[in-house]
Amino acid sequence: MKGATTNICYNLLDRNVNEKKLGDKIAFYWEGNEPGDSAKITYSELLHKVCQFANVLRSQGVKKGDRISIYMPMILELVVAMLACARIGALHSIVFAGFSADSLCERILNCGCSLLITADAFYRGDKLINLKQIADEALQKCKEKGSPLKKCIVVKHLGREEVAVDGTCSKSPPLKRLCQDIQTPWNPAMDMWWHELMSSASTECEPEWCDSEDELFILYTSGSTGKPKGVLHTVGGYMLFAATSFKYVFDYQPEDVYWCTADIGWITGHSYLTYGPLANGATSVLFEGVPTYPDVGRMWSIVDKYKVTKFYTAPTAIRLLMKHGEEPVKKHSRKSLKVLGSVGEPINPEAWLWYYRVVGEERCPIVDTFWQTETGGHMLTPLPAATPMKPGSATFPFFGVVPAILNESGEELEGEAEGYLVFKQPWPGIMRTLYGNHQQFETTYFKKFPGYYVTGDGCRRDKDGYYWITGRIDDMLNVSGHLLSTAEVESALLEHAAISEAAVVSHPHPLKGECIYCFVTLRDGHEFTKNLMDELKKQVREKIGPIATPDYIQYAPSLPKTRSGKITRRILRKIAKNDQDLGDISTLANPGIIKHLFNGRCDTKQ
Ligand code: WTA
Repeated sequence: MKGATTNICYNLLDRNVNEKKLGDKIAFYWEGNEPGDSAKITYSELLHKVCQFANVLRSQGVKKGDRISIYMPMILELVVAMLACARIGALHSIVFAGFSADSLCERILNCGCSLLITADAFYRGDKLINLKQIADEALQKCKEKGSPLKKCIVVKHLGREEVAVDGTCSKSPPLKRLCQDIQTPWNPAMDMWWHELMSSASTECEPEWCDSEDELFILYTSGSTGKPKGVLHTVGGYMLFAATSFKYVFDYQPEDVYWCTADIGWITGHSYLTYGPLANGATSVLFEGVPTYPDVGRMWSIVDKYKVTKFYTAPTAIRLLMKHGEEPVKKHSRKSLKVLGSVGEPINPEAWLWYYRVVGEERCPIVDTFWQTETGGHMLTPLPAATPMKPGSATFPFFGVVPAILNESGEELEGEAEGYLVFKQPWPGIMRTLYGNHQQFETTYFKKFPGYYVTGDGCRRDKDGYYWITGRIDDMLNVSGHLLSTAEVESALLEHAAISEAAVVSHPHPLKGECIYCFVTLRDGHEFTKNLMDELKKQVREKIGPIATPDYIQYAPSLPKTRSGKITRRILRKIAKNDQDLGDISTLANPGIIKHLFNGRCDTKQ
């Protein structure tokens, strides 16, 4: 309604506490990386903390429309920080804590934020991550590039035993070991401790009343040009879509304990760990750790500990656990489970069947949910127990979603067909723009096929009308469910002094789904050695983050190119796979190189 106002944080918290009387209901069970380290928070406690932190932000001068970058591990303060932004109409831009200083800096600069929220350090499995140190590196780079960012709020997470925090953190013995030896670098001119600011903040905070089309958050996703794109979602449509899809796709019931294993740094963690579940008054698990620590039964021990009913994870996690066999799963009861979900990449039928038979004991429907950062919520998905499933198919469109399959000339294909997956009609959760670049928004999603939203994915429709995602058909890679562009990996490689040209392609991988295979040509005077290979891998890790680490790097005397000078990645993909069926190579300027590249292939046998 024109002129009406709302606030998403109010709808998630105040409404559930005051109108629905859910104040004492658990909003989150927090399960730390270390077994035994756990906490819980009710709806009214969460409301109070969010109000406190919203007041802190206001007292730091944050206003409606300001951007705030958040770079945090999976802790309750991350949820508090994001909802506090939403409460005062500031836009959060959450950067996954596995990203490097360079990636964080790039995102801070792009959104022009005034404040960063981070934490001292955390463990992922047995790996210590000194987050504040990485954040400081990023801030230094940002400063050199003229960023207006002047303030940094730091949660004392790993070092929290030293401070009297307010009941949300248990102080169990195993933590003692973890808290030793963390040195948090400190810059008194800009750094502030979260707990010090919170201690004097009021627990009441009037929300900022927003228009439904006001900006809610920015979330960066890889772009095929190599620069991350700031996907922008707005308040009303996103709220409706996240809330409704959560309710129907997971068949939400008030007594559910729901667990989404995604990191909040990705869209799944925004829509289906935070906004969707809280809008429905659900109880969720928020897990800080990894599926393999301290052992490969951790997921199922958490399922049993909290009696999880609905479980949502990624195919890469399923394939990883599948490799360790059935025994670690069967050691745990899992009898609470009712619905299993999958997201992030196509799930291969073998993994689907294992998930269905071993994890769910053929009792639990699987919802294979296809969607994107840009779509805000589920687009193609079964509804549990209502849609007959086919292993590996995301089945049918969600309410209000109208898909089509187009051929190269943009004609809609009917019946059994394969081609470009597009959507014919907008839906409430569709992104509204790319932050600061509306033109790129139009060209990326609407130019190739005017009148349609283009997903960038290939798709097949079978004779029964089921949709099967066949994977990206642009220059994107999907590594363990994380989208990366070939261009961003290439530019990270090109920054090395020894490299003159680089071409990156995706390559099938038994656990990650796809992995990164690189071809590099060298500048004169450089030799292709094991040492150089290690340096290149390190370089990509440092520029982008560990998820982008190349699996294979092959030396190429030169790269196959068209006469107009375009690198033909299609052919390189086949060379990486040792697939000799190259199709038409008559457009190549240098076909002679192909034989050399086949001979120099990396050994990709797993
Ligand atoms: C892929 C993640 C097949 C797809 C929510 C999409 C999937 C990209 C599925 C978006 C699925 C996601 N089946 N492919 N169930 N879910 N994808 O933006 O290629 O991180 O375009 O959003 O992941 O990734 P994003």
